[in-house]
Amino acid sequence: MSFSFDQNSFFTPFNSDKPRDIPQRTGNIERVDIKDKLSELGFTPGVNLSLGNFDTIGELTARKTRDPSSKLFHNAGYFFRPNYERGLLIYALIKHFKVESYLEIGFGRGYGSLCAAMAMHENGAGKVTTVDPNFDQDHLNKLYAAYPDKWFERLQCVQGLSQDFLKSDDSEEKYDLIFIDGDHRYEAVKEDWELCEKKMGHAIMFDDYHLPSVTQDDIEVASVVDHINDYDKQLVILDRRIFVDDRKLSDDEINYGIAIITPST
Ligand SMILES: C[S@@+](CC[C@H](N)C(=O)[O-])C[C@H]1O[C@@H](n2cnc3c(N)ncnc32)[C@H](O)[C@@H]1O
Repeated sequence: MSFSFDQNSFFTPFNSDKPRDIPQRTGNIERVDIKDKLSELGFTPGVNLSLGNFDTIGELTARKTRDPSSKLFHNAGYFFRPNYERGLLIYALIKHFKVESYLEIGFGRGYGSLCAAMAMHENGAGKVTTVDPNFDQDHLNKLYAAYPDKWFERLQCVQGLSQDFLKSDDSEEKYDLIFIDGDHRYEAVKEDWELCEKKMGHAIMFDDYHLPSVTQDDIEVASVVDHINDYDKQLVILDRRIFVDDRKLSDDEINYGIAIITPST
């Protein structure tokens, strides 16, 4: 594990006082259920994809808890795990395509990066580069104590903003797989996309693509993705498809997911 980007000057990606011009979302994207996507990649949960591995990683990196006064606390339990499904997708993509270089914009608590490191460790090759302005050394120490050393040999943590990191990289090097999951506001996602496009190997994934029927403050990823042309696009519908909770939502009721962009076939 290493920190390689020493950045002292931070900048705001956009001026929040100026009126913002955000393109309309179209929702014009092919949808696929995560179970079908995993199957296409050669994985079936419970058969060759052990859900316990993702619980183990999620325990320190992605677990959320429910309010004890809520109905779901009583009906579904204290722990919320449906958000672990992105890890299955990252893992399956890395295993299937033998991804050797993975860039994650936004480390968070480390779930995506550690799922990627586990897959690369199993593949016997690969490097995870993860960029985030906020790393907590105490948290990293806990992760290091809890998970295999070999995973961390594959992990490079870069402290800073993705936009600065990408602009500072003038090499021709591409990343086989990129996961954009940092600042979700339109201007930041657009800049991440524009900077990542030339670094794109097999695919670029965008977390938190919201179909037009869902609106959430500061989640404006779809306004970028819907206006990317000349690439193949797919929305992987996930959350509560594999790690279910007691709401038993149908596929049609899940109106968000991870968008995957790949070179046009
Ligand atoms: C939702 S979390 C990432 C979760 C992580 N990708 C995972 O799968 O577990 C978002 C993270 O993006 C980081 N972030 C926000 N703006 C960023 C930027 N401009 N560049 C890189 N990271 C950023 C935040 O500090 C936060 O840790």
